[in-house]
Amino acid sequence: MKKLLVATGGGDCPGLNAVIRGIVKRASKEEDWEVWGSFEALNGLMEEPTRLIRLDKKTVAGIHVKGGTILGTTNKGNPMNYPEKQADGYIKYINRIPWLVDRLKEKGFEALINIGGDGSQAISQAMFEAGMPVVGVPKTIDNDLNSTDFTFGFQTAVQTASESFDRLVTTASSHHRVMIMEVMGRDAGWIALYTAISGGAEICLIPEIPYDLQALVSKINERYVDGRGFVNIVIAEGAKAKDGTITATKGEEGRHAVRLGGVCYALSQQLKDAGITADIRETVLGHTQRGGTPIAYDRVIASVFGVTAMELVLAGKYGELVVLKNNQYTSVPIKEAISAYNYVDPKGTLVEAAKGLGIFFGD
Ligand code: F6P
Repeated sequence: MKKLLVATGGGDCPGLNAVIRGIVKRASKEEDWEVWGSFEALNGLMEEPTRLIRLDKKTVAGIHVKGGTILGTTNKGNPMNYPEKQADGYIKYINRIPWLVDRLKEKGFEALINIGGDGSQAISQAMFEAGMPVVGVPKTIDNDLNSTDFTFGFQTAVQTASESFDRLVTTASSHHRVMIMEVMGRDAGWIALYTAISGGAEICLIPEIPYDLQALVSKINERYVDGRGFVNIVIAEGAKAKDGTITATKGEEGRHAVRLGGVCYALSQQLKDAGITADIRETVLGHTQRGGTPIAYDRVIASVFGVTAMELVLAGKYGELVVLKNNQYTSVPIKEAISAYNYVDPKGTLVEAAKGLGIFFGD
């Protein structure tokens, strides 16, 4: 029997379970492969005793409709830069990739399918270069991974955000308020842009287009006559003003990326300081965008990604990332996929179309 290990790493995302199910279902058609899962990314493999689970058709039955991941996940303890406490209490960061590859082989694994975002795929590539047969599957609600039209989970996040946005529109108009809704999007404003178009926002603020505060104030004022009017703003958590104002919050032990969240409060204060007198209310959607059952579109992408990843394993095509490109399910070298980032193009057709709909980006 050949053994395959599956891991889900980084922030969770609707559709992870559908990928796992796709892998297991496709593998179960083969007589010589058995699939295992590692709990909390590769931690389950790194720990002693290991925390691994045999995945068969029974284990994955019906999980494609469930949010989260049955394997658990973490965005701490990157094995490329692993925090190891020394005898004197000092934390030393070491590269545990060669050790991890040896460990996989020692436990009898012939291949690894690593489901994760850009950070996880950098780990996949490092393991591949260290001699491990790896296939990657791109995941993130932010849709910021290069080389794929969409990552699974993104459309579900947009759906969640759009539904919340619609609710905020009715209360904004009843109270003549400015509503600011903050969505996720660390470096790329895809969720904000899609939500703004879908919901009909007046203003959309994204990291790729720094905003001019005075221009925002004028736009808001245009919407009010004798104190009556309303404005709905969607802002990505990583959005910033032209003068560079940003609202990074503190970090967490073992986590490298700065935590974001709360930019809507900073914007609210900026608008008040700049003279907006209408009531302003803020909503941070936060992790509601990452939780819950995936919508049908994401279930399809995720399920097909799972099957395609297993087929790459069967074909011995390693070092590849499964992607959806021009509506075709295919793969690209992981190295190529992580070499660039998928930003919203400020001059692209989608932003232009949004502007055509009257959405203002603050530029
Ligand atoms: O990478 C996806 C993402 O949703 C980012 O948009 C956000 O900044 C981050 O995850 C939040 O991660 P955590 O779960 O650590 O709060």
